[in-house]
Amino acid sequence: MEVVIKNTYEEMSALAAALIADVVRRKPNCVLGLATGSTPVGTYKELIRLHKNEGLDFSKVTTFNLDEYVGLPPEHDQSYHYFMWDNLFKSINANPSKVHVPQGMAPDITAFCQWYEDEIKKAGGVDLQLLGIGGNGHIAFNEPGSSLGSRTRVKTLDDRTIADNARFFKKKSDVPRYAITMGIGTIMDARQLVLLANKETKADAISATVEGPITAMVPATIVQLHPKATIIVDKAASKKLTHEYPAEPRVLRR
Ligand code: PGA
Repeated sequence: MEVVIKNTYEEMSALAAALIADVVRRKPNCVLGLATGSTPVGTYKELIRLHKNEGLDFSKVTTFNLDEYVGLPPEHDQSYHYFMWDNLFKSINANPSKVHVPQGMAPDITAFCQWYEDEIKKAGGVDLQLLGIGGNGHIAFNEPGSSLGSRTRVKTLDDRTIADNARFFKKKSDVPRYAITMGIGTIMDARQLVLLANKETKADAISATVEGPITAMVPATIVQLHPKATIIVDKAASKKLTHEYPAEPRVLRR
């Protein structure tokens, strides 16, 4: 696991986009695992810039998103389907038949979750999985206590997650209580992980993830076991780290 501390959100986002672009250039038909939330918005902006200015080609790329609220239709402006089209897919040359976001309205959710796992396998597995982290240490919607070997399934959202995400809804009671999420085992199968965190509200979760023991109570700590994981944080999110970490990853220093 490699930890990189950048001065700003913009620098964190530029580095994450550079790592993703590197995979897309080396393997044009790669499989990307994508995330939603405030954190990756800057990364997506930079990918759009690379597409427009440098011709970064997404036409052969397959994507799988981490999660989706149960009960929100794709056209709902807080659905993760809507988020992905609004923040990335509509502005790059994404192939709609190659993008996958879990279906929050699937009539048989258990069958859907198995189908999603099967589709990831059929696509050859995820080459690079982008991750945010919750203030409670969750990755995707794998809340504290999630099985570290879990697969795609429905999870009940923690009170803290509901409170954190209430800012996107008119009122807290509008935040869905359930979500479909890739499991921790699903995420760990990706060949490369890039986990991002900015702001001081993430400092405790990052400290536990990077320097604490592996525990299901902080699901992100599992990343310590991944052979190719990069954690990129801004200064504020790094505040509680006690070791020294570089400002550039090895992969870009070679
Ligand atoms: P955020 O959410 O990017 O909106 O902070 C991250 C997460 O909850 O995983």
